[in-house]
Amino acid sequence: MKSIAVLTSGGDAPGMNAAIRAVVRTGIDKGWTVFGVRNGYAGLVADNIKPLGRRDVGGIMQLGGTMLGSARCMEFKIEEGRRKALRTLNQHQIEALVVIGGNGSQMGACALSQMGFPVVGVASTIDNDLYGSDTTIGVDTALNIALEAIDRLKTTASSLQRAFLIEVMGRDCGYLALMAGIAGGAEAVVIPEVEADPEAIASDLRAAYERGKPHALVVVSEGAHYNAAGLMGYFEEHREQLGFDVRATILGHVQRGGIPGAFDRLLATRLGAAATDVLERGEHGVLVGDIKDDIATTLLTEVIANKKPLPVHMLELARILAK
Ligand code: F6P
Repeated sequence: MKSIAVLTSGGDAPGMNAAIRAVVRTGIDKGWTVFGVRNGYAGLVADNIKPLGRRDVGGIMQLGGTMLGSARCMEFKIEEGRRKALRTLNQHQIEALVVIGGNGSQMGACALSQMGFPVVGVASTIDNDLYGSDTTIGVDTALNIALEAIDRLKTTASSLQRAFLIEVMGRDCGYLALMAGIAGGAEAVVIPEVEADPEAIASDLRAAYERGKPHALVVVSEGAHYNAAGLMGYFEEHREQLGFDVRATILGHVQRGGIPGAFDRLLATRLGAAATDVLERGEHGVLVGDIKDDIATTLLTEVIANKKPLPVHMLELARILAK
């Protein structure tokens, strides 16, 4: 192996920079040239790519986002776009590609791999919905940002005896909402995986006040049918029966923009370094992830064909602990 390239794709996640740094520096340590691709697959299609040295990735580990830029590239979803990407890789005599990203990105990685190009994926998304890694890069920092918001909202909620809905990201996966709800001590949690009954939520909130709590908090996942907008709609319609005042806060992209914490920097460093080790031993067409605290590789075909299970039973734990 003489040359590899690295890109970040899809939603950025805190820790991506540490993964880039690890790929670049371990690759150079193996005697390879490492190219950085700008803006994900769009940079491959448009030939926006240049070699990176050790110093180019200095001072980035403590920064959120991705120094390479990212994109959701429509052109890459069609075969002609992928052929352009392959031409770019061949023109630069690049022999393998490392793709740091979540589900959509690893689908692209799998497609390139099935066209015969050696690709290794690195598991990174704040949603933690990627099969092949127990925890993905960015989840821990995003969760801590959600917790900080929950703690702050509890303060103001308590002052005015209000109820609050806090909507967190996660697309169609309830991981962030469930874990933030448990760690933040929410009175109710709403996730896409389990159908919610807004009347039951309202009565859980009323029960919290009856038990003497000064506030009531619901953490809702953006992908749930009753997300913040859905629940607020219901609460507005039933304002008379509700008996308490409700406000909604949508955290949105705030969760993605954080300074990566120690956990994400270390996870990203381990996975990034493992990606070049995997390529060195001639393995590709796989995702590098963390399974049971160890580096593990899973075929990209398996990664995209499977849905990562959510520990839904923890919803009951959240309910018990809220009492
Ligand atoms: O996949 C990461 C994520 O932040 C999801 O939680 C969210 O639904 C989505 O990306 C938002 O995408 P965009 O940044 O393109 O609006």
